[in-house]
Amino acid sequence: MADDPVICTCLDLTRSDIIAGIKEHGCKTVEDVGDAIEAGAVCGSCIDDIQEILDELNG
Ligand code: FES
Repeated sequence: MADDPVICTCLDLTRSDIIAGIKEHGCKTVEDVGDAIEAGAVCGSCIDDIQEILDELNG
């Protein structure tokens, strides 16, 4: 993917990393993502971006 920005700077996770984690663990909420891959569970500043990704994937 050409456009794959880092979403979670704490963990250096890009958008595609987070999408892969969401799919692998079947995450439905930001809390699920934090439990599964820790994205959003360190400083929390990427939570809004993670929520957007979840909205896109889960409709
Ligand atoms: S940027 Fe994701 S938890 Fe800090």
